[in-house]
Amino acid sequence: MNLPSKVRLIDVGPRDGLQNEKQPVPAAVKIELVHRLQAAGLREIEVTSYVSPKWVPQMADNHEVMQGINRQPGVRYSVLTPNLKGYEAAALDKPDEIVVFGAASEAFSQKNINCSIAESIERFAPVVQEALAAGIAVRGAMSCTVGCPYEGEIAPGRVGYLAGLMKGIGVQRVDVADTIGVGTPKKVQAAIEATLAHYDIDHVSGHFHDTYGQALSNTHAALQMGVWNFQSSVAGLGGCPYAKGATGNVATEDVVYLMHGLDIDTGIDLDRLVDAGAFISQHLGRPSGSRVARALLAKRSH
Ligand code: HMG
Ligand code: MG
Repeated sequence: MNLPSKVRLIDVGPRDGLQNEKQPVPAAVKIELVHRLQAAGLREIEVTSYVSPKWVPQMADNHEVMQGINRQPGVRYSVLTPNLKGYEAAALDKPDEIVVFGAASEAFSQKNINCSIAESIERFAPVVQEALAAGIAVRGAMSCTVGCPYEGEIAPGRVGYLAGLMKGIGVQRVDVADTIGVGTPKKVQAAIEATLAHYDIDHVSGHFHDTYGQALSNTHAALQMGVWNFQSSVAGLGGCPYAKGATGNVATEDVVYLMHGLDIDTGIDLDRLVDAGAFISQHLGRPSGSRVARALLAKRSH
């Protein structure tokens, strides 16, 4: 088995993780979380999104959060932008990367961003153009690449179709997302394979939610294909407000533990990461969603 020797983890906790929280999380807590993540060695952090506050009230403080972060050199701060209005607001805060987010499922596209897949690409095109012209990197999130809460199973061909559209408008790299965490290794590998028709392995990342407990297996399956970029959420926070019942992303702590066990370099200090997860879990008033964090915290208290 020829696995990558290093991986790059993008912690999406502050954005994907917190967007679903019903109670407003103060901007100061979000900022502190970002600081703790970078101190733990994260080199990519998805900080917030510039979406309609009517749709996702928790992200309404995007500007305050981005302005409040002490930026560390070498760390890439990314933000979600669904349209030009979002991009223009984001650009004022100088993100390193913006993320346009589409879906392989028509129904999910409608529920999440209120337009068809084709319309979403039309909206993204000028956003991508402006970002690239301003020297901002562009990532594309592809939701529902194995299953959709409204349409059920999604064929790999539809993932390939979306990846081709993303490539066509200049998106530099894409995330293969299992939004509702229904995927198993074979299906996730088929979605990645379809994406590889348009993007090389260095420009494809895995974004796995853990609803059915398959996210680590899916991560390992992606590693076996050579994927070395993964999104995960500290403490396993999260879910998408437009994917009912879907739980958080795979916990960053669990992915780091897996990688270190495979002798794969992450650049992350697991103890400090566990502290970051404990910080946000304490604020939210519930135990961490990371099995590894819970085990290590229990060990510490002995
Ligand atoms: P819409 O209602 O069709 O937009 O929403 P519109 O252009 O018709 O505008 C309606 C109102 O929204 C107007 O305000 C606009 O100004 C405002 P009004 O005149 O009524 O006061 N508006 C905005 N406000 C702030 N920021 C903006 C913006 N755009 C319009 N950017 C829209 C379309 C895309 C805005 C809406 O559907 C939306 O905000 N959706 C976001 C949903 C979302 O954030 N979902 C979660 C992120 S995706 C995810 O979690 C999946 C991922 O993790 C991968 C995976 O796991 O699958 C990435
Ligand atoms: Mg997600």
